[in-house]
Amino acid sequence: MSDSRIDAVLNYFNKRIWLNSDIEINNRMEIVKVLLQGIENKKILDVGCGDGRISLQFKSNNLLLLLDISSKMLESARKNVLKDEKNVRLVQADFLEYETDEKFDIVICIGVLAHVKSVKETLVKISSVMMDGGTCIIQFTNCANFIGWLDRNYYDLRARLRGIRNYNLNKISTRMIEKICSDLPWQKKALIRYYSPSQISNIFSRFLELKNVPHLFSEKMKMGFSSEIIACYEKVNEIELKCS
Ligand SMILES: C[S@@+](CC[C@H](N)C(=O)[O-])C[C@H]1O[C@@H](n2cnc3c(N)ncnc32)[C@H](O)[C@@H]1O
Repeated sequence: MSDSRIDAVLNYFNKRIWLNSDIEINNRMEIVKVLLQGIENKKILDVGCGDGRISLQFKSNNLLLLLDISSKMLESARKNVLKDEKNVRLVQADFLEYETDEKFDIVICIGVLAHVKSVKETLVKISSVMMDGGTCIIQFTNCANFIGWLDRNYYDLRARLRGIRNYNLNKISTRMIEKICSDLPWQKKALIRYYSPSQISNIFSRFLELKNVPHLFSEKMKMGFSSEIIACYEKVNEIELKCS
């Protein structure tokens, strides 16, 4: 990763401009909880863990490694971990540069792909740290959706207005992710589209001073707003994949 991109990512997250969106984190937590319900004794890697809330909900029965490039974000994750919790480790690292022989049953990568140097390299790296039969859960904003496109450009603009320069989020689409994943030894298990009221509708509601603007929209309109994607893939044995 070029140093300027790392500096920009650190600058962005060390200013804590993101984690104020509780609604969005709660959405993510809920969906991941459903996808991973009942898991026990698994090794989980949370790439770009932020304050760790998404993976820490599995901490009582599993082993967790929380990884984040930002010391500020990791600090907030540390606050959510009890001192004597031996089953949770925290590592500050750029995931693409992180060297390990460890393999994980589950890799969670939520809200991170927009920020990395290369989306493809990140997905390849995720695959390399997964066990055969392991699961990964990735989240991104689909910019092929109008709301997603507007949202990403709004974030870029907001960062610029806050003095964070030269930092544009990666514009990702579902098609792009599916294309990359089709070259990996992965099988799709689920693809969930959801609608984030914390985004554009929230901007509208701020301007209009209406707290519940999303509720004014019909279900069909909400599907049109569903720019947020959580996809779940299983890593299959490459020989099995070729035979099938
Ligand atoms: C939008 S936040 C999402 C946090 C958390 N996953 C969640 O959904 O609540 C993105 C996180 O990814 C981290 N991040 C960005 N680029 C990274 C990289 N190359 N390696 C590790 N972490 C990274 C940021 O520091 C930030 O904490």
